[in-house]
Amino acid sequence: METLAGIKLKENGYYHGIGKLSPILIDKFKTEFDLFFEDKRKRFFSRFESNTNYSANHDINRWNMLLPSDSEMLKSGFFVQDDLFPTLQSVFDDHFALVFFSSDISSPGSAFQTIHQDGNDFAVALNVPLVDSDEQNGATHIYPKTHRLSDDSPFTNESNTFSNEDITKRSEQLKPVSLNVKIGDYTLRDLRLIHRGTPNKTAEHRPYLSSIFLPSSENVAPTFESINYGLSIFKQFKDIAFPTGKSNLIDYANTFGRLVLGFSNSDRVNRPIPKQVSDQLNEDALYCLRFAFFEDEKLNKRIIRNDKSSEELLHEIEQAKVEFDQLTK
Ligand SMILES: [Fe+2]
Repeated sequence: METLAGIKLKENGYYHGIGKLSPILIDKFKTEFDLFFEDKRKRFFSRFESNTNYSANHDINRWNMLLPSDSEMLKSGFFVQDDLFPTLQSVFDDHFALVFFSSDISSPGSAFQTIHQDGNDFAVALNVPLVDSDEQNGATHIYPKTHRLSDDSPFTNESNTFSNEDITKRSEQLKPVSLNVKIGDYTLRDLRLIHRGTPNKTAEHRPYLSSIFLPSSENVAPTFESINYGLSIFKQFKDIAFPTGKSNLIDYANTFGRLVLGFSNSDRVNRPIPKQVSDQLNEDALYCLRFAFFEDEKLNKRIIRNDKSSEELLHEIEQAKVEFDQLTK
């Protein structure tokens, strides 16, 4: 089914849904989010041995934070509310999954980001602002239609090969649009769309919930055992990297973590979804999250976890161990 949001997303690389979600719901999310975020910051800074250049876990004064499974945010299934699910179905050629159930925070003191694509590959980010946002507190600047090869090119799910130089060149010919949003809005963004974060000039954090949907297999994934092994190596990398404060090690560890989650088609394998949460989710939400680890065993049975898929992941893990080892020398 085509939706207006899907048509706009394909044409412009983004869609701004205005007043689509209940402000009461967003208020609940904000209260819950603030506690998680405070805790996250405490845990992050406790990793470092001494004073550090790191003011946040991403760029200058920006944060990415995965959200807990035992939360109102997950239980609400907001990511399939309104006409979000048919919209996602209409833009993905085939199967997809909600791989990162996360948040992006632009904190006071954040700066302009380099103009970039989040990746060369097609994927969709759903952002739900927990506060109003404009150019005072870090609304995102976007360059409409740059998710396509050119203004005349059709929308496809194919990857592009834009280099950083290509991105700079293309953006220089265009004017960015400030994607100003209010509580109750959501935005969908093609991850190939050229954009940048802008400075937060206020004294308050600017949190967006950020759900990332990636193309996926219908129902095949590595075993939980191999994924958990990858996640344990990710933890080891972080335990070595963070106390050193060396950005090349920290970046390597984080990139490796994203690789494991990408292979898993879910960031919920070591964040099991409680039964009291999955019981509340409708079929559309359960489809998006089908690669997660559920407390409700029957929901785990929908995915075929086979050796071939596990071996591919294990191969990547072994290679990363060698590379990380070399970086530490
Ligand atoms: Fe980005």
